[in-house]
Amino acid sequence: MKIFVTGGRGFLGTALCRRLRERGHDVTAPSSKDCDLTQPDGLSQFNAPTFDQIYHLAAWTQAGDFCLYHPGEQWLINQKINTHILSWWQSQQPQAKLICMGTSCAYSPDLPLEEEHYLTGLPIDSLFTYAFTKRMLYVGLLALHKQFGLNYLCLVPSTLYGADYHTDGRQMHFIFDLIRKIIRGQLYGEPVILWGDGYQSRELVYVGDFVRIAAELAQTVDNDLINIGAGEEFTIRHFAQLICAEVGYPFEKIQFDTSRYVGAKSKCLETAKLQALLPDLRLTPLEEGLRETIHWFWREQEALLGAG
Ligand SMILES: NC(=O)c1ccc[n+]([C@@H]2O[C@H](COP(=O)([O-])OP(=O)(O)OC[C@H]3O[C@@H](n4cnc5c(N)ncnc54)[C@H](OP(=O)(O)O)[C@@H]3O)[C@@H](O)[C@H]2O)c1
Repeated sequence: MKIFVTGGRGFLGTALCRRLRERGHDVTAPSSKDCDLTQPDGLSQFNAPTFDQIYHLAAWTQAGDFCLYHPGEQWLINQKINTHILSWWQSQQPQAKLICMGTSCAYSPDLPLEEEHYLTGLPIDSLFTYAFTKRMLYVGLLALHKQFGLNYLCLVPSTLYGADYHTDGRQMHFIFDLIRKIIRGQLYGEPVILWGDGYQSRELVYVGDFVRIAAELAQTVDNDLINIGAGEEFTIRHFAQLICAEVGYPFEKIQFDTSRYVGAKSKCLETAKLQALLPDLRLTPLEEGLRETIHWFWREQEALLGAG
């Protein structure tokens, strides 16, 4: 198949393009330098050939408190990116199936994180604008499907982890931060201080599992929104224990700073729909995925860990 990927040089995009190419697909994945999606005519150079699938991964965001401090820019940039891809799809590539990424933070914390509630209630304040740009992307998919019969799939992933994350100093998701702190504790004898009491729970999806699931659902499911979660969550203490065991740092030395705000006590996507679609789905065990991620930290030591 001929497949176009936006955000193909990002964390998820790199893993997705690798998998699609391994499967023999003809993948076009320009960087933001070659195709700036904030520009109205950024995509016109790709009007031909016709693509069978378009994966839209590009988004302007980072983990941590980035969304809290950039709501205006996030609105302007992500609305432009999403509008331009939707418009190009409708006008130039209507035969293609558009596979978009949603976000678990679009859900209201007051409701079960089930697909039917994706547009219901209000997302949390710190992620409000980013969450709404993702909701609007989904509304765009619904609208273009309704009026023009275009075929879409919207996937809503939990936090993804794995090797080959960014090494450019940007804010990272909690699991990468946890690994970095514990390795630095081991290497440089720094105190390892984690925020909160460590009993807050989080869900992770291994990026290799996600791209496998995405590629399969892209073939088999039309015009739907599907949560992609692990179906279970673990406490920060549990993640820390596994990392300590792999790194060789004594878990007992970790300090917990309960004065720090750590967000929701628990956050886990409902995955009944995914399980019904892929009843035989087997996910990479957490220990295995963490081991690979930690090995990548060691390989990228200079960029990721800094000097002691
Ligand atoms: N990672 C997660 O845990 C997670 C969880 C839920 C949802 N998602 C969603 O999955 C998607 C990919 O996430 P990710 O973690 O891979 O993010 P990422 O590493 O930050 O990648 C984002 C990509 O967006 C591209 N981009 C940004 N601005 C652009 C522009 N103006 N024009 C063209 N491309 C632009 C970047 O391209 P360049 O690198 O070429 O600049 C980058 O490759 C996003 O939509 C995100 O919301 C991710």
